[in-house]
Amino acid sequence: FALKWLWRLTYLSAIAGTGWVAYGIYESRHPADQADPDSNKKTLVILGTGWGSVSLLKKLDTENYNVVIISPRNYFLFTPLLPSCTTGTIEHRSIMEPVRNFLRHKKAAVTFYEADATKIDYEKKIVYINDGSDVKGATSSNEVPFDMLVVGVGAENATFGIPGVREHACFLKEVNDAQQIRKRIMDCCETSTFKDQSPEEIKRLLHMVVVGGGPTGVEFAGELQDFFSNDLKKWIPDIKENFHVTLVEALPNVLPMFSKQLIEYTEKTFKEETITIRTKTTVKNVTDKYIEAESTGPDGKKVLEKIPYGLLVWATGNALRPVVKDLMSQIPAQKDSRRGLVVNEYLVVKGTENIWAVGDCAIANYAPTAQVAAQEGAFLARLFNQMARTEEIEMELKHLSHVQEVAPSKEKRDEVFAQIKDLQRRLRRVKQMGPFEYSHQGSLAYIGSEKAVADISWLTGNFATGGTLTYFFWRSAYLSMCFSTRNRILVIVDWVKAKMFGRDVSRE
Ligand code: FAD
Ligand code: NAI
Repeated sequence: FALKWLWRLTYLSAIAGTGWVAYGIYESRHPADQADPDSNKKTLVILGTGWGSVSLLKKLDTENYNVVIISPRNYFLFTPLLPSCTTGTIEHRSIMEPVRNFLRHKKAAVTFYEADATKIDYEKKIVYINDGSDVKGATSSNEVPFDMLVVGVGAENATFGIPGVREHACFLKEVNDAQQIRKRIMDCCETSTFKDQSPEEIKRLLHMVVVGGGPTGVEFAGELQDFFSNDLKKWIPDIKENFHVTLVEALPNVLPMFSKQLIEYTEKTFKEETITIRTKTTVKNVTDKYIEAESTGPDGKKVLEKIPYGLLVWATGNALRPVVKDLMSQIPAQKDSRRGLVVNEYLVVKGTENIWAVGDCAIANYAPTAQVAAQEGAFLARLFNQMARTEEIEMELKHLSHVQEVAPSKEKRDEVFAQIKDLQRRLRRVKQMGPFEYSHQGSLAYIGSEKAVADISWLTGNFATGGTLTYFFWRSAYLSMCFSTRNRILVIVDWVKAKMFGRDVSRE
């Protein structure tokens, strides 16, 4: 009897689940009509369509402001799965969500300009923009005035001025970086099997060097080794003996933000996967065929050596974008900051009143991660919604005070007085918004061969774990964090496809 009910329940939940997903898909494809943008309201300009800005947009009530978004990217990119795109485990479009899709679901329409913000004039309250795309219109207008501005432009790749990096290395920040790496891997493999190639040249072409042992470098090295072990060596057996991945890190260990046991676990796993880790090795120069690196031996002696490479991926962290640097130079309170826009506990850029910053371009004493950026964006949405509500109540109060003054009778005055008291209570509640507090959920990283490491914040303590189970946790956590049902379905399909047919080894 119990089994029969259990079966019925499962059956009903499956139908309800399917119905829910179907409704989600229908709803996402049939947005309701929107109110037009209202230029009489304050203009809120948001720069960027990354983790910080999009998380703000998701929760912002766009009826309160005339909202304008400026970004060279007309999509949101789910960066945690970007390393998987370099090897074709996941197709890049599966982790992109067009901004138009979610803007169309806001209550009031939002203006979007696909452009770079080239300069922010703090005094004049103007953002200057430039359309960097291939297709240009006939307009020469490039000024966007603002009352309130949110800077969420992220960061660019740090190169520390090391010669040759920009010319010869691949980065891993954007979709086109992942595409370029994928193409380059295949190019190196195919060229290494070209007619009469010398043994040294074959070795060089198949040497895949990753600089930077932070999570980006580690995750990419793991994905690349998987690609080789699961697919490349089967389809191109000629490369089997020479394909090799090396990770170069200046510090004494990789993944410095993870706990000691997970660092050791990662290093042990890389050894088993035959990935070489070169710690205490700093790259000083890059040419088209080799890097020059200075390593410190156990005796403390420094040795400069040339390391030939076919593919070089540069993942040494973040640097300031020029537009942020320029804004900082206009604000005296920012003059001592080197790493980004210093913000207060409400994410207001110090030295300003109407500019806020979120994510990698803001300095708020947290690591530059998606987790931080998303929480900051959500906080700003709450703050802006409350600010609008406060203004609305204050206007109502002003109006009621006037009504009270001119009221013809005592009864009417008492009635208005009660309304004022009620509104004042509501105003106090609305104004009670605490400062931004970051809640750390933990750190996760994929390290290859279906293993992941996780430092998870658990009640009052920390919980460190690594292995295959953690890998399934990593997958489910990132799947649940994906932007939309559409993204989730596409990512699952990609995973199944890669498992069933292997990754695609075509060069394009
Ligand atoms: P971004 O998400 O980088 O967005 C910046 C936006 O600004 C983009 O839309 C960009 O086009 C736009 N922009 C750039 N210049 C301009 C301009 N001049 N004018 C207007 N717009 C501009 N963090 C985690 O917590 N977990 C992870 O697993 C994780 N994995 C990662 C994997 C990789 C490969 C990388 C590169 C990063 C990863 N991160 C991860 C870090 C995370 O992606 C960043 O911390 C996060 O993207 C920062 O969000 P943001 O909104 O500040 O910037
Ligand atoms: P990072 O700043 O975390 O690490 C860069 C590494 O490069 C450092 O360890 C540094 O010592 C090394 N380095 C710098 N110059 C060097 C040189 N010349 N030669 C050799 N090594 C050199 O950068 P990463 O990995 O790009 O991450 C950026 C941010 O994004 C971090 O905050 C990180 O936490 C976050 N992120 C998080 C992920 C996750 O949680 N899974 C994945 C990817 C990024």
